[in-house]
Amino acid sequence: WKAHYPPYDPSDPKGFSYETVVRRWPIIITGVIDRIHRLNHEATMASRSDQSGSATNDVEVNERIEEGKGIIGKASKLKYDMARDRPMEKIENDGGLNVDIFNAELDELVKEGKGSWFKAPWLFAECYLYRLMRTWFAPTKHWNNFDPFFAQKEDSFRGSAAAVYQLASMMQELESEKEALIKEPARLEVLWDEMIQMCLWGNATDLSLLTNLTHEDIEKLQTVEKETRDARKEFILCDDSDAAWEALKSGSDRVDFILDNAGFEFFTDLVFADFLVTYTPYISRVVFHPKTIPWFVSDVNPPDLDSLLRALSSPSSFFSTPPSPFQASAVSALVSRWKRYFEEGSFSFSVPRETGYGEKSGADFWTDPRAYWNLHLDDPEGLKSLEGCAVVVFKGDLNFRKLTGDVKWPCSTPFAEALGPLRGRIPILSLRTNKADVIVNVSEDVARDVERKDEKWRVNGKYALILFCAKDGV
Ligand code: F6P
Ligand code: MG
Repeated sequence: WKAHYPPYDPSDPKGFSYETVVRRWPIIITGVIDRIHRLNHEATMASRSDQSGSATNDVEVNERIEEGKGIIGKASKLKYDMARDRPMEKIENDGGLNVDIFNAELDELVKEGKGSWFKAPWLFAECYLYRLMRTWFAPTKHWNNFDPFFAQKEDSFRGSAAAVYQLASMMQELESEKEALIKEPARLEVLWDEMIQMCLWGNATDLSLLTNLTHEDIEKLQTVEKETRDARKEFILCDDSDAAWEALKSGSDRVDFILDNAGFEFFTDLVFADFLVTYTPYISRVVFHPKTIPWFVSDVNPPDLDSLLRALSSPSSFFSTPPSPFQASAVSALVSRWKRYFEEGSFSFSVPRETGYGEKSGADFWTDPRAYWNLHLDDPEGLKSLEGCAVVVFKGDLNFRKLTGDVKWPCSTPFAEALGPLRGRIPILSLRTNKADVIVNVSEDVARDVERKDEKWRVNGKYALILFCAKDGV
């Protein structure tokens, strides 16, 4: 299926796609180079000071260092090629995911003369970038299971202490109202709105945007006080929370989250899921869908769940600020409940939790470069598996771009129309802070008005959309 509008690509120097290929991707690739360089340096120093004289150990360390240098070489070449608009090369078969899909798409683009970095549609090129990176690591012996962004994800979560403690305390306070809440659905609906907003603004943190935002900016975006959330309501350009609430009561007891970023955003997803399972009478099962290769810097990979649970299990040693006694007990209650939910199956991952990076071969739905409307709608591991959900929450900007195909829709296009053949198949709730040019479901008047106030409103993460499209017949 094809929309009538062209995709966003870097041909417009005013678009965020151009800024991304010129500035943001090179910074991200340089970050990968620096990280491997630092690890290589540390390994060299450690092996020099190792007095054991073990020859086997030396061989292993040298092998790892040489492999690291190989990866650095590939990353440097990519930066060079990208800046010169060189052709994008085929994805090598590394035994991992979606190789044929990426290469078939690339072939099509080459035929149209769009197979290079400044000509390819932004959505494809960006997915391709992260898939290509995986081919640098997959065939190595020592870096095969390495996520170049893991440390960055953990560090950023370390700085999220204040917001984590606030939300944990809020959940602790809810606990004392549990009985009253279950009896009063009207109060639950108010909480639903609050939870949606909390989870929405959790998406404002995105490490791929750190190339634009300062750490202070990020802390500000994470502020979860009610007054701040209320003040931010004017930045939500469309809010379909009420319709989604109705769908939640449709009879299915399952909600799925198509996850976006690890760390603080994932924490807010878990808080939201906890609210659904613990406090509403409607939902008893939440399934989380992570990415199976390092993706768009900050996206959740399976190992990020254990990392998050570990962090929350010892907040004093993990976070940059230790919790007060009340906060410590609130965090501990939360993490114990979540661990129990994962054990009992109230919470689950769509892939085994111990999946490393790219262990699965064949197709993977969530790291496919195509718009969701172009994916096989009857794929039993993809959309088909979501048909029985009360609501499917698509988190973040990239999911929104894939839902709408990242094409130049007039901004007033109804969300349902922008979903193409996906419309009505599953109940879609998209929680998105605007970090890319594509906008739908916003009237021309509102768009003009916002544009006057803030010309970067489509991309700077300050504005947001809460969009819902029901499943047909529900
Ligand atoms: O690099 C740009 C981008 O694809 C934007 O869509 C967005 O800024 C980011 O990467 C991903 O955002 P999110 O983590 O919210 O999907
Ligand atoms: Mg992301």
